[in-house]
Amino acid sequence: MNILILGSGGREHTLAWKLSQSPKLGSLFVAPGNAGTAEIAKNLAIGVNDFEKIKEAVLKHQISMVVVGPEDPLVNGVHDFFLKDNSLHEIPVIGPQKAAAMLEGSKQFAKEFMIRHAIPTAAYQSFTADSLEDGYAFLEKLTPPYVLKADGLAAGKGVLILNDLGEAKEELKTMLIDGKFGNASAKVVIEEFLAGIELSIFVLTDGNGYKVLPTAKDYKRIGEGDTGLNTGGMGAISPVPFADKVLMDKIHDRIVKPTVEGLKIDNLPYKGFIFIGLIKVGEDPMVIEYNVRLGDPETEAVVPRIQNDLVSLFDAVAKGTLDTIDLQIDDRTAATIMMVSGGYPEAYEKGKEISGYEEVQDSLVFHAGTKVEDDKVLTNGGRVMAITSFGADFKKALSKSYENIEKVHFPGMNYRKDIGFDL
Ligand code: AMP
Ligand code: GLY
Repeated sequence: MNILILGSGGREHTLAWKLSQSPKLGSLFVAPGNAGTAEIAKNLAIGVNDFEKIKEAVLKHQISMVVVGPEDPLVNGVHDFFLKDNSLHEIPVIGPQKAAAMLEGSKQFAKEFMIRHAIPTAAYQSFTADSLEDGYAFLEKLTPPYVLKADGLAAGKGVLILNDLGEAKEELKTMLIDGKFGNASAKVVIEEFLAGIELSIFVLTDGNGYKVLPTAKDYKRIGEGDTGLNTGGMGAISPVPFADKVLMDKIHDRIVKPTVEGLKIDNLPYKGFIFIGLIKVGEDPMVIEYNVRLGDPETEAVVPRIQNDLVSLFDAVAKGTLDTIDLQIDDRTAATIMMVSGGYPEAYEKGKEISGYEEVQDSLVFHAGTKVEDDKVLTNGGRVMAITSFGADFKKALSKSYENIEKVHFPGMNYRKDIGFDL
């Protein structure tokens, strides 16, 4: 079968790499893709939100499954677009319909969902420009740090954590009145700060049955010791050593099961990945956020550990037969390190030549922000390339990734040297 992946990052290169191992795959297309996907699939110069162009390509290339990488097209209703179109409605889309994608598209929607289904999460209230004064009063009742979240999609930048009450009030005003995150911050969720250690859970569901994929831990800050600005993610480890059976049972019973059941009860059609951002507070897991896709760079550590044929898994999602599949996981640890452009996550330059990655041995290289120009591979984003290695434990996996990263070069290249420091 011919498959189209939407997206252009490390997550999509990893999915392309995994799908291309399947004997069931015909031709693989990625829109728009990167230099890495170009090596194993055909890149199509189409934006992920250009549904009409996607339709044209799907018909032209006889594509019979679409796998959606990022949240944007899902929140914009790409799955619904396929279902409503006479020539596309039988083509399965891996990714939820718009109504369910609101779990990521609106923080308030996600909070209401969790409250309705008794899923543990931080206490919250939401505010608009009209209720700014109430927002100030709510902040005054909380103890610092203060957590302010833009309700809508803000490219991963919409969460502010502030220690000072005055600053929190000022930011609340900037978000609500001055449109700091545009329309995404027309509504702001303020929530109780949860102190603990974070981990991510990925669930693949066909709307009825589901599989819990390997756990992962992402390192979001640019600086060592989890300092500095937030990024898309600087590295990941899977599995998370502290996610033992006791914690996983709690996560399953209190969070995963009620989430999938809640989707059914609320009539939110879901065929795809659910990413549950968790924090372990004391001995108890609580939900920080839902995303309606795989995480990046968590995918680069999680997907290589899945031993099943990915086309078969997606086919089971499409047909609603996921329950009949037995998930096989590599029990080694995978460790991913992300190489980023100098200056990222603030302003950075693109178009720098990347060399040496062909010399990486015994590890996997996944491209993120890269492109090919005149036979050269150039940087084309903040997060440029990831290296994933396996090891008997996370330290061994990490040391192999760090050994190989030395071979890769581009001007301004930066990466975190302390992934896993907190484990
Ligand atoms: P998000 O963009 O929702 O992933 O949030 C970004 C980061 O903010 C999370 O990964 C957490 O580290 C942090 N965060 C979000 N909500 C809370 C909370 N209620 N308490 C503590 N940290 C939080
Ligand atoms: N690594 C975090 C995310 O994909 O949102």
